[in-house]
Amino acid sequence: MSYPTHRPRRLRRTAPLRRLVAETRLHPADLVLPMFVKESLTAPVPLQSMPGVLQHTRESLKVAAAEAVAAGVGGLMLFGIPAERDPIGTAATQPDGILNLALSDLRAEVGKDTVLMADLCLDEFTDHGHCGVLDEHGEVDNDATLLRYREMAVAQAEAGADLIGTSGMMDGQVAACRDALDGAGHTDTGVFAYAAKYASAFYGPFREAVDSALQGDRRTYQQNPANRRESAREVALDVAEGADLVMVKPAMSYLDVLADVAATVDVPVAAYQISGEYAMISAAAANGWIDRDRAIAESLLSIKRAGAQIVLTYWATEVAAKLAAGQEI
Ligand code: PBG
Repeated sequence: MSYPTHRPRRLRRTAPLRRLVAETRLHPADLVLPMFVKESLTAPVPLQSMPGVLQHTRESLKVAAAEAVAAGVGGLMLFGIPAERDPIGTAATQPDGILNLALSDLRAEVGKDTVLMADLCLDEFTDHGHCGVLDEHGEVDNDATLLRYREMAVAQAEAGADLIGTSGMMDGQVAACRDALDGAGHTDTGVFAYAAKYASAFYGPFREAVDSALQGDRRTYQQNPANRRESAREVALDVAEGADLVMVKPAMSYLDVLADVAATVDVPVAAYQISGEYAMISAAAANGWIDRDRAIAESLLSIKRAGAQIVLTYWATEVAAKLAAGQEI
């Protein structure tokens, strides 16, 4: 018999060899923690569909943020759930709206120790649950929505956001927010553009997280899961409009899109491991069908391997703490 000349297995023989030749590594600073804060809650509320994730009170949010920062996460992405909703999402732009208050709280709590980001979208604030305002036919009105986004961008910057996360998929939203920020003197506040964002079934558990009132779906503004090249256009537009970072969302069903984007743009690229991705791994692990920790590590590595420098994940604190303690994840 002749022996194989090439034996790739040699480099897989021991854990130190595998570690030495690993092409992708996770670092706490790669991870961004999305967090939910709800107005007039007296105690945090655990989410059924996302075990381990909470709707926070303003107080519990500060504690959880401090834990995330201590674990070394790269940043926090905030979502607010107001007590009152209306057709134009008034609470989104009020300085004392829950999201803006929580941003100021965190700015005071964590100072300059982390990057503070906020989701810039109206869906948590509107009574109809759409990401924008509606016209007289009940359709999402792109340009009227841009006017609300402009105000929201300035409100978030004034509340202390480092980056605003434009996530509504309105055409021209990055340019509109950039212009509004600059006009209000917030030239240093960046735009973290949810640039390629698909109309996904995997946002399901997020509806519980933000008590969403949405009837129908978002297919007239979010992208069709069938399309890959369309993301090149969406991302190029956002970069041309002044996006400082771009994001692909969801992550795991769109790794091809993520790889394309990472290969073509020269701004930092992020991906969002969304609520349904978290819920699927959690549910399968709870049933004993997969190994939870290995599945979390593998999912995050695959997202980095595909080209994301930054990963938004509800496991950010847990994974960052393990990495900081020198554990293999
Ligand atoms: C829009 C927004 C959504 C998510 C993040 N920002 C909901 C949507 O687009 O339908 C989903 C995040 C997740 O599912 O974890 N405000």
